[in-house]
Amino acid sequence: MPHSTAHNQPAPAPSSVGAATLKIDDRTMELPIVEGTESERAIDISKLRQETGHITVDPAYGNTGSCNSAITFIDGEKGILRYRGVPIEQLAERSTFIETAWLLIYGQFPTRKQLSSFSGLLTTHQMLHEGLRNHFDGFPNTAHPMAILSSMINAVSCYHQDVMDMEDDETFESAAARLLSKTRTIAAAAYKASIGRPIIYPRPDLNYCQNFLHMMFSLPYSEHEPNPDVVDALQLFLILHADHEQNCSTSTVRMVGSSGANLFASCSAGVCALWGPLHGGANVAVIQMLHEIHDQKITMKEYVQRVKKREVKLMGFGHRVYKNYDPRAKILKGAADKVLATLKVHDPMLDLARELEETALEDSYFKDRNLYPNVDFYSGIILRAMGIPVNMFTVMFAIGRMPGWIAHWREQWLDTASRIARPRQVYTGQTLRDYVPMDQRG
Ligand code: SDX
Repeated sequence: MPHSTAHNQPAPAPSSVGAATLKIDDRTMELPIVEGTESERAIDISKLRQETGHITVDPAYGNTGSCNSAITFIDGEKGILRYRGVPIEQLAERSTFIETAWLLIYGQFPTRKQLSSFSGLLTTHQMLHEGLRNHFDGFPNTAHPMAILSSMINAVSCYHQDVMDMEDDETFESAAARLLSKTRTIAAAAYKASIGRPIIYPRPDLNYCQNFLHMMFSLPYSEHEPNPDVVDALQLFLILHADHEQNCSTSTVRMVGSSGANLFASCSAGVCALWGPLHGGANVAVIQMLHEIHDQKITMKEYVQRVKKREVKLMGFGHRVYKNYDPRAKILKGAADKVLATLKVHDPMLDLARELEETALEDSYFKDRNLYPNVDFYSGIILRAMGIPVNMFTVMFAIGRMPGWIAHWREQWLDTASRIARPRQVYTGQTLRDYVPMDQRG
């Protein structure tokens, strides 16, 4: 049943608030200035090349807006993060991952009926086609779970041709439910395959998070009963990772989707972008960093000196947008204590992380560069407490980020004016020259 029209609109256009004057040689031109609902301003250069023959250049796009979006708002200076206008702190406290996923994708809180129907769809689509289960045997058990996840997401679409030609919102909802639900099943199956254990079928009586833990830790002869505190910690982890506006992997999903590529292909590309250690792979790099400090008995002051000498980066610190404490890191730091206490787990890595943060933030090198803990600094501590192996940490980030990728893909899909993304460049290579025959090449 298609949802109310409020769910089917592309991002509204920003308002015009004036113009900037650009002077090139003896010419001047007016460039429109637009303003978003949170008073962010941008200079619209969409007519620049046509009118001046010039392009802009902005490597890594630090100053460039790629789109209008109504999904997530970040104020990096104030450390604010809101999904569809709702503060992350409230969602972390009161929502569930699937309710948050609906909010991100459709822009409104789901009614009880909508949430129940969507949860039903997730249950309907939680299993993998039996033909897909054999794929896991084809990966070596040393295969990285992110490689398995990105390839299996595309493999799933081979069994659901309808996701290729998305015509209407019903097909979209079914594809989104499939992707959200099967990403979780693929992740658990990849883990089981990597440790040579049988892949466990999902259970229809468990919710999203309970089912994931069941598929990760049950055995054919021994049912894993998920600890409610671990389920809550997983819920929190996934909510905090669900979206983050135009980050590297989400921009990848939009870039791939802009060519008309289907939802699965676009999100599979997002998994690959997230894998990098500067992005979602940082949660693994943080734990590796803490282990190195612990095992090699490096003092915090020594490690900070190494960072200042640029021998190493302080992984889990710094952010392109946040020039203040990442609000997600603040929540995860508080939750880490609580999760470890309820699970009666003592993790020396948490003490190390806290000590490292304290030592770093006492040093002007970090404050001068606005370097604070980001979402990855404490997240690994919580994953460890849940019994998730380190090589699955970035997969957990991908499971969390899937609703955001789906929401951004849909927002672009709904925008009938959107065009294929195709940046320009400044060419600095060889100017015109002729072919050189082999015997004249010296
Ligand atoms: C995520 O974009 C998102 O929203 C991402 C994310 C999401 O939810 O999608 O929030 C998830 O990816 C979080 C970031 C995880 N990555 C890490 O923790 C890796 C470590 N951090 C850095 O690599 C870095 O801070 C980035 C990649 C996060 C941001 O890089 P930028 O914006 O390109 O910053 P920069 O490299 O220009 O750094 C500015 C200065 C430099 O010093 P100077 O040359 O000016 O003297 O800060 C320094 C950098 O050397 N610096 C660091 C540092 N991060 C930046 N120095 C030491 N350790 C660090 N971690």
